[in-house]
Amino acid sequence: MGRAIVMTSGKGGVGKTTVTANLGMQLASKNYRVCLVDMDIGLNNLDVVMNMDDRVVYTMLDVIENRCRLKEALVQDDHYPLLFMLSSGGLNQNLTIQMSEIKAIITELHKTFDFILIDCPAGIDAGFKRAVSCADEAIVVTTPHLSSIRDADKVVTILSSYDIVSKRFVINRARGDLIQDKIMFDVYDIGKTLGIEFGGVIPEDDNVITNTSENITNTKIALNRAFDILADNIITGGKKLFDCTYKYRGIWGSIKRIIKRSV
Ligand SMILES: Nc1ncnc2c1ncn2[C@@H]1O[C@H](COP(=O)(O)OP(=O)(O)OP(=O)(O)O)[C@@H](O)[C@H]1O
Ligand SMILES: [Mg+2]
Repeated sequence: MGRAIVMTSGKGGVGKTTVTANLGMQLASKNYRVCLVDMDIGLNNLDVVMNMDDRVVYTMLDVIENRCRLKEALVQDDHYPLLFMLSSGGLNQNLTIQMSEIKAIITELHKTFDFILIDCPAGIDAGFKRAVSCADEAIVVTTPHLSSIRDADKVVTILSSYDIVSKRFVINRARGDLIQDKIMFDVYDIGKTLGIEFGGVIPEDDNVITNTSENITNTKIALNRAFDILADNIITGGKKLFDCTYKYRGIWGSIKRIIKRSV
């Protein structure tokens, strides 16, 4: 029986899809069977982030409208044979999706996958409800900015009215230099505000979308170490922290901070 985890945030653009894709790759590289489900119906882009858009033949909407079987709509990743994706499909304004139809798909995925990562749309309306209703656990993604933390906090409150057994937060786009200078909120400030379990910290890094096997296995890259730790925390229930301030400490660190902020 797999674990269905919804990746949510409230605020848009904080990195839900990015974290979903990278966490999925890490879990698959650790020999777990993983299915990424794009629940951002209409504004789907998980297929693009995963570099799978040209291989999508059928989508979740095709499964719901009985044009194919669920198995036929799953796209297998090129680098990780245990990683699959179910695309949500484009906009079909005439279609009213029943919650039971989505739940039936997730129930079916439970039988064959260890992890089902559900990429939730931004906001807290119908799309959010659909995504959250079929999950057992939630990862609330936030950036270390006040507006994002406030929205994450609202989402945490709303999640209490659903059957979610575990809630964790992930801080995305953390900047070690700014945290060290106490300009950016750190994990303890955010944890205190949200009042849910810690999941992980992901640094700001322009290489974040790179679905290639070399990058994900290169643990020398800070970004990959951060996702590796996040995956371990999700698997074991641990609270290991990726410290993005480590290279900004001490005298050399303060020089790096000045340089980083002046570019
Ligand atoms: N850690 C990171 N470092 C640098 N850029 C990042 C990071 N995480 C995400 N981004 C960038 O931020 C942008 C938004 O990311 P993403 O699409 O994953 O957010 P989202 O929460 O899924 O958005 P939406 O609410 O629209 O679905 C993308 O351009 C992505 O490349
Ligand atoms: Mg998204």
